[in-house]
Amino acid sequence: MTAAPSLELSCTATSAALHQKAEELAKKLGLPCLPAPASTPQLVYTERGLELRLQLPGSDTSRASVLFIDFAGGKAAFRHARNCTARQPLARAVGIRPGFRPFVFDATAGMGGDAFVLACLGCRVVMFERSPVIGALLADAVERALLVEPLADIFRDMVRLIIGDAAEVLKQLAEPADAVYIDPMYPHRRTSALNSKEMRIIRAIVGDDDDSPALLDVALTAAADRVVVKRPKGAPLLGGRRPSHQVLMKNSRFDVYLTRHL
Ligand SMILES: C[S@@+](CC[C@H](N)C(=O)[O-])C[C@H]1O[C@@H](n2cnc3c(N)ncnc32)[C@H](O)[C@@H]1O
Repeated sequence: MTAAPSLELSCTATSAALHQKAEELAKKLGLPCLPAPASTPQLVYTERGLELRLQLPGSDTSRASVLFIDFAGGKAAFRHARNCTARQPLARAVGIRPGFRPFVFDATAGMGGDAFVLACLGCRVVMFERSPVIGALLADAVERALLVEPLADIFRDMVRLIIGDAAEVLKQLAEPADAVYIDPMYPHRRTSALNSKEMRIIRAIVGDDDDSPALLDVALTAAADRVVVKRPKGAPLLGGRRPSHQVLMKNSRFDVYLTRHL
């Protein structure tokens, strides 16, 4: 991974009641804990959950941009995911078919949106996120989801989060996944993902995933059935490797590498 420019990140909370949580997180991540929200980049415990607040270059300087992961509302809302069908591109790419739901390793969890959709479609999913900061936001979102039915059932039974590097863990699996899913940070420029404020915030924290060709190499040895790589439309093949087939969408595509015969 290419390191993001070093941000002077700290933890804090919006109320005294939440401050203990901010102190614990600061200790865990080795960050300073400030008594109150400031204008510097911060992980902030609020009444609704943990938020990342930072100023994105070129955005309105009077307001911080916020990254908040919420499986019960917003884009990833359960209602939205429930409408996903087994015919949608991601489902087809990972190999969902009547009577079969693959066990999926999402090697690049990010905000957990794709993992959530797969879990809602009936797949068991292990999410890996190597950034401790994004991992903390994701863990907080999972904790909240476990308090809300029917999300609680899905997250208890179908989803597991591991904060760590997927490439390391994939080398030593007890139970191989049917499918490994890789959605690395998109290359700079000419990408629709850069238009997403959330992805711009994630990039400010994690930098570029320019080691993703190596992740694909490991995944190809670890997946029982297939590896799926999400790429922007027109982007070169990851590591120059030709996929078995592609699932095309308007702005992006899934490159599918079947591993059964490798
Ligand atoms: C584009 S985002 C993924 C978005 C995700 N598919 C979603 O639905 O929100 C890429 C994420 O993968 C993480 N990542 C990249 N390589 C990784 C690896 N080897 N192990 C674990 N996480 C990784 C990055 O830190 C980043 O948060």
